[in-house]
Amino acid sequence: MKRGVLLLLPVGVAFAQQSALDPAGPYAHRIELLGAFFLGLLGLIFLVVIILALLSLTRRHRGIDQEPLEQNHRPSESTERRLTRTVGIAAAVTVLILLGLVVISVSAGKATSTPGNPDPANALVIEITGTQWWWQVRYPNEDASRIVVDANELHIPVGRPVLIRGTSNDVIHSFWVPNLQGKRDLIPSHVTTDWMQADHAGRFRGQCAEFCGLQHAHMALWVIAEPPDKFETWRAHQLQPASAPADPVRQRGQQVFLDGACALCHAIQGTAAAGQVGPDLTHFGRRSTIAAGTLPNNKGNLAGWIADPQNIKPGTRMATVPVKAEEMQPLLEYLEGLQ
Ligand code: CUA
Repeated sequence: MKRGVLLLLPVGVAFAQQSALDPAGPYAHRIELLGAFFLGLLGLIFLVVIILALLSLTRRHRGIDQEPLEQNHRPSESTERRLTRTVGIAAAVTVLILLGLVVISVSAGKATSTPGNPDPANALVIEITGTQWWWQVRYPNEDASRIVVDANELHIPVGRPVLIRGTSNDVIHSFWVPNLQGKRDLIPSHVTTDWMQADHAGRFRGQCAEFCGLQHAHMALWVIAEPPDKFETWRAHQLQPASAPADPVRQRGQQVFLDGACALCHAIQGTAAAGQVGPDLTHFGRRSTIAAGTLPNNKGNLAGWIADPQNIKPGTRMATVPVKAEEMQPLLEYLEGLQ
């Protein structure tokens, strides 16, 4: 457990780029403006209320206190009328302000999530499926041979609106990449939509924002925004099946993978492995993290993850598959070689 915690630190600290206060695109910017407006207006109202409360304390010996009370200890009629009017106006102003906030909040929500909103013809569609506790990422295409499937990492072209179509395999998750868009719930048997866009290249961290079970905190993802030509190169590469391992060590690793239980849950295009339960591993070696953003992707972490997944991510659905000591190195070489 301790080792797991220590290993987690570098991931969060070394490349932290996750802040709703540093928007990198128009949708996140709109949400930041909305937040700033709420903060400013409500802060101002708070100040006014506190000042009025303090004033009323210093004025307590004037006004109704000094009026002679009638027999039944009621304030005079004129004072009562004045109080009723003041409270009535304050209540009406409060209701109007709250209504106004609801209107601008709902309109911002609609503007950042309605499909067909900015320029649907130019938009890139990405389907995200939340699963305890990882993200399936799918780039749909009318041509089935051009569908890209990946996990826990989204590549998007800079400057182009991306429509996220999200759903869930089990419980409610919430897809949230603070620098690029607002939170959007992923609900089983239901598709929700949300727009994201990056106006400059960069790596942005996302995180599940709805408690979804034991490993909710370790359900992260990375968005890599890159220039359109680089994005297309990436996409073309992802469409290729895994290249056959050339050297004997990797060939042995592939055998271990295909003969063991790994292939029951994971798919590797170009091999017999076609499991659909866990992440697609066709280009696993190119991902920067393993276990949904939990650990940097390297042989050491991967060995620990395969040998004892429950130690790194207690409750994970990743099965503990018995791998013989002499089989581990070839398996690591094979998986990390899936470029
Ligand atoms: Cu998925 Cu929290």
